[in-house]
Amino acid sequence: MAILLPGGAGFIGSHTAVELLEEGKDIVIIDNFSNSSPKVLEAIQKITGKKITFYEIDYQNKKELEKVFKENKIEAVMNFAGFKAVGESIQKPIEYYTNNISGALTLLDVMKKYDCKKFIFSSSATVYGTPQKMPITEDCKTGGTTNPYGTTKLFIEQILKDIYTSDPTWDICILRYFNPVGSHKSGLIGEEPQGIPNNLMPYIVRVANGQLKELSVFGNDYNTPDGTGVRDYIHVVDLAKGHIKALEKIDKEKKGLYIYNLGTGTGYSVLDMVKAFEKATNKKVPYKIVPRRAGDIATCYAEPKKAKQELGWKATKTLEDMCKDSWNYIVNKTL
Ligand code: UFG
Repeated sequence: MAILLPGGAGFIGSHTAVELLEEGKDIVIIDNFSNSSPKVLEAIQKITGKKITFYEIDYQNKKELEKVFKENKIEAVMNFAGFKAVGESIQKPIEYYTNNISGALTLLDVMKKYDCKKFIFSSSATVYGTPQKMPITEDCKTGGTTNPYGTTKLFIEQILKDIYTSDPTWDICILRYFNPVGSHKSGLIGEEPQGIPNNLMPYIVRVANGQLKELSVFGNDYNTPDGTGVRDYIHVVDLAKGHIKALEKIDKEKKGLYIYNLGTGTGYSVLDMVKAFEKATNKKVPYKIVPRRAGDIATCYAEPKKAKQELGWKATKTLEDMCKDSWNYIVNKTL
């Protein structure tokens, strides 16, 4: 019996693959390398000393997907496939809705056909739109997403709820990620954004190594302690371990739909991140204050209590770990 990871060569998928293999699970990865590379698979095998079953296919290709289910005994699916760049999604809504939603539907349809009904979905804090309260609990209202990427997450969550209503023999776990950063301690896998990064940590890292001149801090007039945006940064290895706990939960409980925030519960501002990074790495991060970025909110951090109570999961890595490990990956890559 194996766990299928569409998008398993990506940032979060690859870290989860490592954790699953280290737990002694068998995995099958499918990826079309649209935002990753075959080197990631070699790295996963190097870290774990285990072999991966891999198919280079697009998860929207039903025929090829069926072949994977025919050739392997798939017990559960963790879906990491999907486009994830907020800005790009505004430029390319058709591509985002097609890839993320059609892809998820194809996958769920094939799962149903092969009677595989355990599904763990990578959702996002973005589904809360402008959050009702802080910290954000799972029962906060969702909706009001400000870009097609976020809306694909919201729609897929709804699709999953409808599937569960139609057939309660499904076991579904929706994980709402906050802001994943960091990388595996080996420095062999990490975040690999294409072109100029949109997200804060990959940008900071590239300023620190001289690839980019300075960080633009998007606004210092928010209603936050230092005026810059506050987010809940979570180490990707903690996030990956959350998936293991989610799998244990659906294995144990049998039949249900669960939703969990995966965050630390602590918010840090953009300037906190710059300072923490400089301290952890001894590198300078020059920055300038520029106007706010459209669509950004002031503050966003999780109430992670539900995941602790029901999954026995809690983020354990510190901000220093997040900064050091993000840097370590880049240094290792350029050696
Ligand atoms: N920021 C800067 N300069 C930059 C990049 C970001 O000041 O160059 C600021 C942003 O304004 C924000 C914070 O850093 O205050 C974090 O921004 P990110 O782009 O790293 O992350 P977001 O919180 O905007 O978005 C992330 C993911 C989304 C996900 C969302 C969930 O990128 O996929 O968290 O809350 F939907």
